[in-house]
Amino acid sequence: MNQLTSATLSHGYCRRRTPAWGNIPRGEIITGDALTVLRQLPSSSIDVVLTSPAYFRLRDYQIDGQMGMESTVSDWVEHLVAVCDELARVMKGTGSLWLNLGDSYSRHPRFGAPPKSFLLGPERLVTALSARGWIVRNKVVWFKPNPMPASVTDRLNTTWEPIFLLVRSPRPFFDLDSIREPHRSKRSPITTPPVGNKYDGGKRPPWAGPLAGSNDGLLRARAEGRSGHPRGKNPGDVWRVATAKFVGQHFATFPTALIERPLKATCPERVCVSCGSPWYRTEHRLQPSCRCKGAWRPGLVLDPFMGSGTTAIVAERLGRDWLGIELKPDYVEMAMERIHAERARREEVMNNKQRRNDK
Ligand SMILES: C[S@@+](CC[C@H](N)C(=O)[O-])C[C@H]1O[C@@H](n2cnc3c(N)ncnc32)[C@H](O)[C@@H]1O
Repeated sequence: MNQLTSATLSHGYCRRRTPAWGNIPRGEIITGDALTVLRQLPSSSIDVVLTSPAYFRLRDYQIDGQMGMESTVSDWVEHLVAVCDELARVMKGTGSLWLNLGDSYSRHPRFGAPPKSFLLGPERLVTALSARGWIVRNKVVWFKPNPMPASVTDRLNTTWEPIFLLVRSPRPFFDLDSIREPHRSKRSPITTPPVGNKYDGGKRPPWAGPLAGSNDGLLRARAEGRSGHPRGKNPGDVWRVATAKFVGQHFATFPTALIERPLKATCPERVCVSCGSPWYRTEHRLQPSCRCKGAWRPGLVLDPFMGSGTTAIVAERLGRDWLGIELKPDYVEMAMERIHAERARREEVMNNKQRRNDK
């Protein structure tokens, strides 16, 4: 890749005062090594990174320079730390990184753990990232109701993978309202006094350690006679999502349902074209968080290990801009075909709808 091309401004927004980050490509997959390409992207340009890097020694993508085939798990961690350093640079201060990681079992001590032991790659990586200033906000459990069958008899089958949510600032963009779920039970409002009231005038109970969470929200809801948040409940951090089938020759594809929630919550529907800051959802509408009074464009999601293009497909469905990086040209071609097929399908649906309305 010699030079990054300026993206087509497909939304018809104002082209004046477009800052450096505004020239980042959109709607394309750059073929190349993630780290090398990331080094050429402008700083503070990405709203969210959502990705699943190649796991350590679990899949062979059969291409030189692939991640995952390092000699030891420590080398794999080092490689990904370098990628994440670049992600920290290209992400906006309000940005988020969703990292889906899988572990592998050692076959030899030289990989970094005794044979048959988990190598703990995800834990090693996230510990290293925390030491480099990343704020680890969630460890989501992706529970797979249809896991790969295993013939092991001396351990349990693995049925979940972690998805880490990491941010750079204590105040990242997070639109919880867009992913709230209906309350399950229609319980009547809780009218009993808050637990804290049993102790010393509503203060925290004596057994609460210094890092124990406060129940302020719950206490407020109780005081106001509500059974939960009026806009629905927080979906929590255990997500039950079936794995996706192979897409063409790609064998490690994200299920689309897995990435809808993170995209809605952390990729703003709108960002200011002038300063890049996200618009926030109030009870009634989206509102800019800046005073630029300028045009807007959709938030931008980056997947630096794009594979079969699932992140792009979901981004388009949700009206977000996207950018991908992928090392293997065959996968880039396959992903672009998939994206075009999805666009054609959506256009067909829209045309049918229009025809029905016109009748
Ligand atoms: C786990 S898969 C990602 C799958 C993707 N989430 C999807 O839905 O299809 C990892 C991808 O990283 C790619 N990859 C491996 N090493 C890479 C590198 N150094 N730079 C960029 N991409 C790389 C592989 O070719 C593979 O497609």
